[in-house]
Amino acid sequence: MSVIFENSRFFRQQGYINGQWVDADSGNTFDVTNPATGEVIARVADMGAAETARAIDAAEAVQAEWAALPARTRCNRLERWYQAILDNRKELGQIMTVEQGKPIAEAIGEVAYGASYIKWFAEEGKRVYGDIIPAPMTDKRNLVIKQPVGIVGAITPWNFPSAMLARKLAPALAAGCVVVAKPAAETPLSALALAVLAEEAGIPAGVINLVTGMDAPAIGSELTSNPKVRKITFTGSTRVGKLLMEQCAGTIKRTSMELGGNAPMIVFDDADLDIAIPGALAAKYRNSGQTCICSNRIFVQDGIYDEFIERLKSEVEKFSIGNGLEEGVTHGPLITEAAALGVESKVQDALEQGARVVTGGARSENGPCFFQPTIIADAVPSMRVFREEIFGPVAPIFRFGNEEEVVELANNTEFGLAAYFYTENMNRMWRVSEALEYGMVGVNETAISSEVIPFGGMKESGQGREGSRYGMDDYLETKLICVGGLDRK
Ligand code: SIN
Repeated sequence: MSVIFENSRFFRQQGYINGQWVDADSGNTFDVTNPATGEVIARVADMGAAETARAIDAAEAVQAEWAALPARTRCNRLERWYQAILDNRKELGQIMTVEQGKPIAEAIGEVAYGASYIKWFAEEGKRVYGDIIPAPMTDKRNLVIKQPVGIVGAITPWNFPSAMLARKLAPALAAGCVVVAKPAAETPLSALALAVLAEEAGIPAGVINLVTGMDAPAIGSELTSNPKVRKITFTGSTRVGKLLMEQCAGTIKRTSMELGGNAPMIVFDDADLDIAIPGALAAKYRNSGQTCICSNRIFVQDGIYDEFIERLKSEVEKFSIGNGLEEGVTHGPLITEAAALGVESKVQDALEQGARVVTGGARSENGPCFFQPTIIADAVPSMRVFREEIFGPVAPIFRFGNEEEVVELANNTEFGLAAYFYTENMNRMWRVSEALEYGMVGVNETAISSEVIPFGGMKESGQGREGSRYGMDDYLETKLICVGGLDRK
């Protein structure tokens, strides 16, 4: 086991149910592996449907009590949790780097990013206002109140193991919901570490439950079919999202789905390359390209095509890939060897169809999970990199001639999460922003994420929004109270 975890009170290998750290009923565990080294860093409780059902029962036992607390009390506890996470962000970042692979600075940044949602919703939770609607008759008054949806099942991904959990737990808890969450089996340690701090911050037993396990279908089926669970929130692939939505139909659960993306980044001839190049680097290579909002297809207009590629290449070749704990490493491994093989096959397909490698293009000698930061030029729509999420550090560059053509290409996908474009023309800024069928559009900017924005997609990229004042709605029911008989004296 890794020495980095020695003496860390955050290093937990058991699930967290009803305020207790517990083993799987079977006693079985699964291995968590450092993708940079291949070392097994933890053996975590391998739970299934029975433990999930118990976690739901534990949540049910405290749901009413948690919802009945004054919002201020709930929010004060969230504030304490936020501060505790920030105070310990370095140690939490180390755990994340070792289980997920991202460089330590990026991991610490993610811990703070996740915590920012807790702070935001600790504030927002005090502002869940109702409404009074003028009635069409004199003897009635219509009041609207907001109430927590109830028990939430949350399923979170491995690419942002801390932030994606925090941005589901924070609005849920602030709204008065309690949660049973399943962190990704590749990266459960960051989630478990957050639970240690939640407990210390005074979040009561049963309000947050973490079910760890490899058997995602068993845990997912229990969460989606159990009638006590009123909502499912999921970040992950569109394929699994569709499955969960089907399963939720049986008990008509609310769902929030943050699913796959196929983000276009469009660079017009009039773009300022001094900002477009850093924008492309950040959007494409953050987290080694394993981000739902990564620019998947980079469209560059004829007039600046060659210059853009040359300048991007010279920056990409400065990257240093390796173990994210090492000084100077800018990019870590992919999550698994299978992920690296998947990226390789998409590059291979592009090359077979006439694309040209500008830099990188292959798996790396650093280890089985690594893939070289790559640029491929002369990409065309028949390639897999046009249709599929790459989820790796590969930038395919497509050439385009005019605005109409590129908007059509950008929208030619079933996905609709994020899109970016660079232009100095203000009229085009409005035209293209409105024409892109995406939930989030960055204009001359790719670093769009923060707790204050409504993060979410259109089309098959999902439904619901996380963060911002809109993010609270996903965890609230709207109830009408119609008071009648008021004309009586
Ligand atoms: C994601 O990849 O799903 C999250 C990215 C972000 O929050 O910026």
